[in-house]
Amino acid sequence: MATNFDYSNIETTNAEPDASSMIETFRAIGYSIEAAIADIIDNSITADAKNIWVDYVWHGPHTVLSILDDGKGMNSEELIQAMRPGSKNPLLTRDSNDLGRFGLGLKTASFSQTRKFSVISKRTDCEVCLWSWDLDYVNKSQSWNIIKYCPEESNYSEKMEQLKSGTCVVWWDLDRVTKDTKEDSEESKKKFLETMERVKSHLSMVFHMFIDDGVNIFLQGRRIEPWDPFMIGFSGLQPKPEVKFQGDQINIKGFVLPHRSKLSYEEYNYGKGPKDSWTEQQGFYVYRSKRLLVAGDWLSMFKKEVHYDLCRIRIDLPNNVDEDWQIDIKKSIARPPLKYKDQIRSVAKEVRAQALEVYTNKGQILKRKLSKDEYSPFWEERVRHGKRFYKINREHPLLS
Ligand SMILES: Nc1ncnc2c1ncn2[C@@H]1O[C@H](COP(=O)(O)OP(=O)(O)OP(=O)(O)O)[C@@H](O)[C@H]1O
Ligand SMILES: [Mg+2]
Repeated sequence: MATNFDYSNIETTNAEPDASSMIETFRAIGYSIEAAIADIIDNSITADAKNIWVDYVWHGPHTVLSILDDGKGMNSEELIQAMRPGSKNPLLTRDSNDLGRFGLGLKTASFSQTRKFSVISKRTDCEVCLWSWDLDYVNKSQSWNIIKYCPEESNYSEKMEQLKSGTCVVWWDLDRVTKDTKEDSEESKKKFLETMERVKSHLSMVFHMFIDDGVNIFLQGRRIEPWDPFMIGFSGLQPKPEVKFQGDQINIKGFVLPHRSKLSYEEYNYGKGPKDSWTEQQGFYVYRSKRLLVAGDWLSMFKKEVHYDLCRIRIDLPNNVDEDWQIDIKKSIARPPLKYKDQIRSVAKEVRAQALEVYTNKGQILKRKLSKDEYSPFWEERVRHGKRFYKINREHPLLS
C-alpha cells in the first residue's frame, strides 16, 4: 500500500497495550542470566565505561544483583527516556561504537531476571537521579508509570558517591534464577554460585576484545580475564588471510588452531572455552563492533564434527548491517544474508580443509609415535643394590 494512503475516511479506535500484560510478555523473551547481564554491560561500554562492577548479595529468592559502571551517565530526563520501552527507533543510524539497536535491552534484559529494577545515574554536570520499574506497581496502577524508589540495601548511594559519573542498574530480586531456593540452604547457594561461574565465563568470552583494550569487568570484585577463541599468541596457530565482502564492510578471517600435541595440558583446556569442549567451540564467531554475538556455530552451513575441532572463523560486522544479518534483541543471533552465504561458505570450506589436514596429520604422527613398533614404556624399570624401582622415561614421545 502506498505510504500516502488517505486514512481520513476510515474509522479508528485506540488499542494501546495493556501495561502489565505487555511487561509480563517482556519477561518471556527468553534471556539467560548471562545474556541479560551482557546486554546491560553493552550499555555501559557504549557509555564509554572503563570499569564495570557486577556484584550480588545472596539472599535466596531475594538475591540482589547490581551492575555499576563509570561511564558518562545520564541526567534525569535522559534516564526517563532510557526507561521507556522502545527508547530509540531501531531505524536510527547509530555511532559506529554503539552496541545498541532496539531501545529495549535495558528493560527486556532486566525484566527477564527480576520484577523490580532501578537505574541510578549521574553525569558530571548533574545530581544523581533514580527511577525504577516495579511490575507490582504497574499491575496495581494499570499504567506505564515508573517510581522513584530503590531499597537501600542495594547500597547504591555509597556506590554512586565514589564515581564522578556513571550508572548503576539494580535488580532487586533475581526471582528467575533463585526460584524455589532458600537463603540458608547450602545446596541452593552452591547452585547459584555455579550460575555465577557461567556468567563469568560468558562475559570473559563476549567482551574479550574490550577487556584486551583495557575495559575492566569485575565480578564480586575480581577482574574477569579475557578468553580469546582464536588463541592468538599460542605456538602452532595458523591465522589465514582476511577476506572482505559486502562492500568491504564485513571481514572474515579463519584460524587453524594448534594441534593438541603443540599445547600444554593447561593450554589445551583453555582452548575448550566456556562450553568446555573443542567440538562445541568450533565454527563461526560473529562479532558486531567487537562484541561477540555468536560463539562457535556453523550457522546451518555445516555440522559439528570432531575432526574440525581446530577450525574457528571470525566474522566482523559493523553496527549498520543489523537488518541484513537479522540481529535479535538479545544480541545472540546473527544470520548471514542469503546473497553472501555462498561466499562465506567457500571461505569456510578452505579453512575447514586446512584444519582437517592439521588434525589428521598431526594426529597420525602422534599415533605412529605411540604405535606398537615404536613402543617405549612410560616407566623404566631399574635395579640398584638388589632393589627394584621405576623412573619416568624422558624419551617417551608424549613427554618429548
Ligand atoms: N549504563 C548506561 N550509561 C549511559 N546511558 C545508558 C546506560 N544504559 C542505558 N543508557 C541509555 O538508555 C538507552 C536505552 O538503553 P536500552 O538498552 O534499553 O536500548 P539500546 O541500548 O538503545 O538498544 P538495545 O535494545 O539494542 O540494547 C540507551 O540508548 C542509552 O542512551
Ligand atoms: Mg542496550
